[in-house]
Parts: sequence; C-alpha cells; structure tokens
Amino acid sequence: MTDRILIIGAYGQIGTELTLALKRKYGPANVIATDIRIPDHLSDEDDSCLYLDVLNRRALDLAVNKYQITQIYLLAAVLSVSGEQQPLKAWELNMQGLLNVLESARENFIARVFWPSSIAVFGHHAPKKPCPQHTVLQPSTAYGISKAAGEDWCQYYFHKFDVDVRSLRFPGLISSSALPGGGATDYAVDIFHHAVRNESYTCYLKASATLPMMYMADAVRAVLELMEAPAAQLTVHTAYNISGMSFTPTQLAASIKKRIPGFKINYKPDSRQSIAESWPTSIDDRFARKDWGWEPEYDLDSMTDQMLLNLRHSIPELQV
Ligand SMILES: NC(=O)c1ccc[n+]([C@@H]2O[C@H](COP(=O)([O-])OP(=O)(O)OC[C@H]3O[C@@H](n4cnc5c(N)ncnc54)[C@H](O)[C@@H]3O)[C@@H](O)[C@H]2O)c1
Repeated sequence: MTDRILIIGAYGQIGTELTLALKRKYGPANVIATDIRIPDHLSDEDDSCLYLDVLNRRALDLAVNKYQITQIYLLAAVLSVSGEQQPLKAWELNMQGLLNVLESARENFIARVFWPSSIAVFGHHAPKKPCPQHTVLQPSTAYGISKAAGEDWCQYYFHKFDVDVRSLRFPGLISSSALPGGGATDYAVDIFHHAVRNESYTCYLKASATLPMMYMADAVRAVLELMEAPAAQLTVHTAYNISGMSFTPTQLAASIKKRIPGFKINYKPDSRQSIAESWPTSIDDRFARKDWGWEPEYDLDSMTDQMLLNLRHSIPELQV
C-alpha cells in the first residue's frame, strides 16, 4: 500500500523543508500539508494544503480518514521563548495536540507517527558536555516540561497500544527557507539575515553561550532516516539524542566574518540567556548512531557557506 502522509504544522520552520522532502519521497499527491496558518501564495494553487487545527480532534480524525493517512508528522507546537510568555498555552498545544495525534493513531491504526522533542527536556541537573541519552530530565521551561512529558506519552503509547511513534531531541535548527518560531536558538538564523544585508547584529545571548545546533538539511534527513529504520532496530521509544555541531555566538560570527569581513556582532544578553544556560552544550548521540546509523553532514563552516548562498538567492532585495 502507498504511504499517505499527514503533516500538521507544515508551514513552520521545520515543516517548510520537511514537507518538500516528503513530497519528493512519497509523491506530492500522497502528502497532505496542514496548518492553521496557510501562506497566501499557496492557498489557490495547492489543493494538498489544508487548514487543520490539531486541537480539533474531530477534524483530525476526519482528515485521517478522508485522505487514508498512514503516517502523521506532528510539528505544531509553542516553542521555548514563546512558551515562557504563555506557559499554559504551551502546555495545552504541545500536550493536547500530541495526545490527539496519539489517540487518532491508535484508533485509526496509523502505521507510524513522527513527533519532535527537543534538548529543552534537559535542565540544570543533566550533564552538559556531552549530555547522555539516558539522564535526569528536570526541564526549566514550560516548553521543556511539555516535551519531557510528551516523550513519556510516546513511550507509553508504544508499549501499551503498539503505536509506532518515533522522536528526536532536536538541537537548535538553522535554516534559510523559513524564519524560526520563537525559540532560544533563533539568533543563529537571525544573524545570517543581518549579515547578508551588511548589517551588524545584536545578539541576545552571551558571547560564550555554547549550544548544540544542526543545519536543517541534516535535521530533515534525520527524520526521514529514523522513519525508515526497521522497528526492530530501535531501542529508544522516548526520543533519540542527535548531534550536529556546537558553537558559541562568537564562533558563528567568526565563521561569517571569514566570508563577510566587515560583519560586526555585539552582545546584549536578555532573559533568553537563562534558557540557554539550562541546556547542554553538546549531545551524546551514540544510540542514534548505533540503532539507525545517524551521522551529521554539516559542520559550522559548511553550514555558513550554505546559509549565505541560499539567503543571497532567496532575498529579493539582494537580487538587484
Ligand atoms: N526549530 C527548532 O529549532 C526546533 C528545535 C527543537 C524542536 N523543535 C520542534 O519541532 C517542531 C516544529 O518546530 P518549528 O520550529 O517548525 O516550529 P514553528 O513554530 O516554526 O512551526 C509550527 C507550526 O505549527 C503551526 N501551528 C500552531 N498551532 C497549531 C495548531 N493548533 N494546529 C495546527 N498547526 C498549528 C504554526 O502555524 C506553525 O506553522 C515543534 O514541535 C518544535 O518544538 C524545533
């Protein structure tokens, strides 16, 4: 049977690139991209793009049945910084959205579910360098609390109801196609938008704030590879640690300066610094490497090259 894919939250930072990759893999007609925010340019020409609120369980079941869905990718969430402004909204969307998808998957015999977790599940008490797969989870943000609880629910549905739900603890993701949605690592995308316009950048983290990061092409490939892996090989049913690279704002700025010598950065740390301080600085991803062969491709310099190239091609005012 052909796989039929439902993506929920398809027009955010990850969904923009993951949707394209899934359309390439399964064929555009087999991928239903949904969100509560449909970009204007898509609504007329793309009939596989639908309004779907993941909090509406009935609408979710209707979509699953109407399109004979076999796999669900749930990307809708309130992220770390936005979650600190609206903690109960973060809990409601991140938790009820996941439970709606897990219940729908159970009742409708969905073959596979993907739901991303985050390095925000770790808190001050987890080892920082590198942070192991199995360790204490005492998250310090509402977002992290929702992700840690979500991981436990995924494991519960796997063992109790045989729902094949798979998850990754993403680090900060860096991409050129869509702007990030309110996380503590957003600086690593914003900085490139300033650099290509020859503007200086004021960073809201300290110069020395090391964080784990990943280029989006690696993140999308990780999702595809995890979802393709034979079930018998998977030993982690909460969420896999995966690692890409780790760097400070100073190191990222230096990589940009090698390519744009006049680029300047200054620092004005705000409340986002305390979120960053509660997260690990590097990630031990040996379970992902052993179970399904994970290996990142991009390092800091190759990611910088790709980001600058992509943004120069995609920002209209840079074309003249
Ligand atoms: N981007 C990162 O750096 C990062 C890192 C770790 C984990 N993650 C996780 O990956 C997932 C996707 O992240 P992202 O960066 O693409 O987020 P994003 O905020 O860019 O996109 C989320 C999308 O969900 C949609 N949405 C919001 N409420 C919805 C609802 N009720 N029903 C349906 N759609 C709704 C939004 O309109 C948005 O397009 C999230 O679970 C996030 O926690 C992201």
